[in-house]
Amino acid sequence: MRKKIVAGNWKMNKLQNEAKKLVNQVVALLQNSNLSDNKRVIFSPPSIYLEGVSLITNKEAFIHSCSQNIYSENSGAYTGELSAEMIKSVGCEYTLVGHSERRALFYETDIILAKKVSSALMQGVTPIFCCGELLAERNSKKHYDIIKAQIEGGLFHLTEDEFSNIIIAYEPVWAIGTGKTASSNQAQEMHAFIRGLVTAKYGNITSDNLTILYGGSCNPANAAELFSCPDVDGGLIGGASLVAEDFVKIIAAL
Ligand code: PGA
Repeated sequence: MRKKIVAGNWKMNKLQNEAKKLVNQVVALLQNSNLSDNKRVIFSPPSIYLEGVSLITNKEAFIHSCSQNIYSENSGAYTGELSAEMIKSVGCEYTLVGHSERRALFYETDIILAKKVSSALMQGVTPIFCCGELLAERNSKKHYDIIKAQIEGGLFHLTEDEFSNIIIAYEPVWAIGTGKTASSNQAQEMHAFIRGLVTAKYGNITSDNLTILYGGSCNPANAAELFSCPDVDGGLIGGASLVAEDFVKIIAAL
């Protein structure tokens, strides 16, 4: 059975004391929740807090930490970067790869992202691979082609075995941080399309087990409707993950 996940992407927000407070508040609020091996919560703080957050989440069975980014090499002369091996060494088991802000602001291409995905998998770190189209691409009806190209370019070099350790997040760029959520129909259509691509390449078992998260202005008011779609297995939450009560309400909608 595929896992249902709510992941919080804090982006470049929170100071150290605030980060600690937020994670502790959420963990406390989740004490009597119905998390299980199939329902998980993930925090993706700025990398400077990853070790501290991991120390807290690693005491919890179904709560995990996640890096917002990794570099594709394990070590060496790459000033400013951090590797999958390093995040793993501080107790972190997930990493975002290819968030639209990394693609747009840091010029990350499909080739770079494919290498990051492989590097994470080699270290036993689960990549949460993000994809999404721009508004102009949707308006010109190119959104399916764009998502297909991003998934093929970033993920389809993997073997079936490797692919079974991937999580995908569909995040339409026009919905990120804008308050403009995709409708549940738009989300379901694209998630079903993505699952179809995976079925064609890797077969039914792999695609049935694939967790596909929705991201983009997901909040306590719209989470339940989005998560009720058959191919939406949870969410990657930005703004609303910065407020403990809101994040916990979204988790309750899983
Ligand atoms: P948002 O961000 O929830 O603030 O729209 C989502 C994301 O960027 O992962």
